Parts: sequence; structure tokens; C-alpha cells
Amino acid sequence: MTDEGYIALSKPTIGQEEIDEVVDTLRAGWVTEGPKVRRFEEAFRDYVGAAHAIAASSGTAALHVALAAAGIGPGDEVITTPFTFCATVNVILYIGATPVLADIRLDDYNIDPGEVEKRITARTKAMIPVHFAGQPCDMDRLLALAREHGLVIIEDAAHAAGAEYRGRRIGSIGDMTAFSFYASKNMTTGDGGMLVTNDEELARRARLFVHQGLTRDSWARYSHNGFWQYDVAALGFKYNLSDVLASLGIHQLARLPHLTEARQRIARQYQQLFEPVPEIIVPQALGEVSHVWHLFVIRLRTEMLSIDRGRFIELMRERGIATSVHYIPIHYHSAYCQRFGDLRGQFPNTESAYEGIVSLPIYPSLTEAQVQRVGETAIDIIRRHRR
Ligand SMILES: Cc1ncc(COP(=O)(O)O)c(C=O)c1O
Repeated sequence: MTDEGYIALSKPTIGQEEIDEVVDTLRAGWVTEGPKVRRFEEAFRDYVGAAHAIAASSGTAALHVALAAAGIGPGDEVITTPFTFCATVNVILYIGATPVLADIRLDDYNIDPGEVEKRITARTKAMIPVHFAGQPCDMDRLLALAREHGLVIIEDAAHAAGAEYRGRRIGSIGDMTAFSFYASKNMTTGDGGMLVTNDEELARRARLFVHQGLTRDSWARYSHNGFWQYDVAALGFKYNLSDVLASLGIHQLARLPHLTEARQRIARQYQQLFEPVPEIIVPQALGEVSHVWHLFVIRLRTEMLSIDRGRFIELMRERGIATSVHYIPIHYHSAYCQRFGDLRGQFPNTESAYEGIVSLPIYPSLTEAQVQRVGETAIDIIRRHRR
């Protein structure tokens, strides 16, 4: 298979505007956090409809400072999903709190509010719902639980830049929302993240934690209007974004509506292709949401096939198509088994979803013909291995 014929799982869409802005930043001579980060934060804040945005070096950093800003720490429990990337759980451990996992629903793979409710104790202080694949969680029910029990909601919106829930953009709903601009995400700065909130005090504290606990960031100290003095007011982290990366973010954000439309078009094409195939459970946007399709995760009904998911992935690769698995359940990984013991069997929906899930290529520059090829190849493999 030549590289040309190979279909990757994800690819960024970088235009001339991004390149020009990076060059402008390099020529300006201010490469760390400065005016471009401010511009990016303001544009992102306005786009999602939040009062404050704090740029960070990654989505993980944004989640970590959200927990720090909320004052979560040792002895506190934070409820999240086992069907996520390790970052969601790691940040709870970084802060010294205890992650408590709650199973997902099988229709959208998002955390099940009923399972969250069962796990709330006197120690529960926060929840981190993950908008899986770009589909918003059931925020009405999660917000109602949070208000009833006095919990902070920190949304993990790593997949969900631009997504909407009942007419409101993700980022304007929970107490704090963390976005990721990792290379594969719907908009990217290579690596980067953003924390947004409507709460002024949380924003002030998060900004402090992103900047080593310093009361003035570099721009506020060293630019022509800057002032040298600062206080280290908290034990913070070195989590700021740079102007070089914010230069990408400014134009990726402007491009996001088009990038999202392209993903939605690809998702519709896959849905139509797979609709007549009973061996495939096809993902759907449910309820009043705008799903931004960071991932397109099909689920194989492996009981109807003579091959398992692993073999399906190998056969797709042999035919030049990259696929992946989002996610290996958190409690299957050895680092968490060592800490929490063997939790297998406790999250039946996560575990049964995991057996059949396959993420197919989805990114704006994937052509209609390529989507057709991915779909037809998957269907052909299935036809050859029907029970
Ligand atoms: C669900 C989820 N949460 C958090 C993260 C962490 O984001 P980052 O890689 O920007 O630290 C990712 C992405 O990689 C993710 O997919």
C-alpha cells in the first residue's frame, strides 16, 4: 500500500492564515504568552459564550487547574466516566482526590446520570462528565444533580469544541469547561488547551494556577506597560500557552464552523452507508444537540461475526485504512488496577461497548470518495465474516 492510498485516522486542517500568523509572531519577537494569547482567549470566550477564558498548555493542564481552582483536594471524591482518555482520571489523582467511576449509557457512550447519582457520597465534591466523541452529555440531569448535592461540574470538552446542548454552546453551561487543542482535535494548536467559566473568582484562581501561582504573567511584567513586581500567591503550575501556538488557535477558531460542517457531512455519509448493515451499531446524534463528530465510533455486533474487533482492525489496516479504539476502559489499565484493585465487572455498559467499538477516519479533508472507500471496505470485511 502506498502512502497515497493509505487513509489516516485523523489529520489537521492548517491554512495559510495560520502560517502567516505564526510567522508574524516570530517576526514580532514576542514568542511566549502575550498579545496573541489574549486575542485567542477573548475570541474563544466570545465564541462559546462564557465570561472568562484561560489558555493552557494542554487540555490536561486545563482540567488540572480547574480542579485546583475549585479547591478540590485529598479526601474529596470526583465522579467521572471509565470510557475516557487517561487524562480525565489522572488530573483527579494529581490533585490528591479520589476518582469514582460511573458507567455510561450505551446509546451515546456518555456518563449515565443515574449511575452518577448512585455514587454520590458525603465526600463527593465534583463531577467531570466527558462529551464523548463530540456529543454533549445529558447536562440538564447532571446540572440538577450537581445543584442538589452542591457539586462542581467541570466538563471535559476535549472532543466538543463548537458542540451545542439545547441551543447553548458547550463552555457556557457547567461551572468550568476544559477544551483540548491536541493535534487530532476538531481545532488544534499542536498542543494546547482552554479553560472557560462564567465565575469570576474561579477564573482568577485558574489564571493564577496556570502561571506558577504568580499574580502577574510575563506580558504583565515585561511588556512596555508592564510592572516588575509580583507575588507567588499559590503553588501553581507552568501551564501557560505561548503566542506561537495561540497564533494557530486564532485562525483554527475562525475556521471551526466550516471544519465542524465537514465532520457532520462525513458522519451523515457513514450513517447512510452503514444503515442497512445489521452487524454495525451506528452512532447517532441524540436529542437537542449539535454533535461535532470528533470521533466516528461504530460498534460491531461481534456475536454476528466470525472475527473479533481486533481482527477487523487488522483487516482494515491490510486494506490501507487506519482505525483505532476509543477507549480502552480506564479500569483495564495496569496503573489504575494497582491503585484501585480489579474493578472489572462493575461497569457493564463500558465493558460491552469496548468489545465492539472501532473509530473510523474522520477529519475535514477526508473526501467523499475516501469515506465511501472506508465504508465499503468495512462492509466488505463484515460480509466475508458473517456467521
Ligand atoms: C477525553 C479527553 N480528555 C482529556 C484530553 C487531554 O487533552 P490534551 O491531550 O490536550 O492534554 C483528551 C485528549 O487527548 C481527551 O480525549
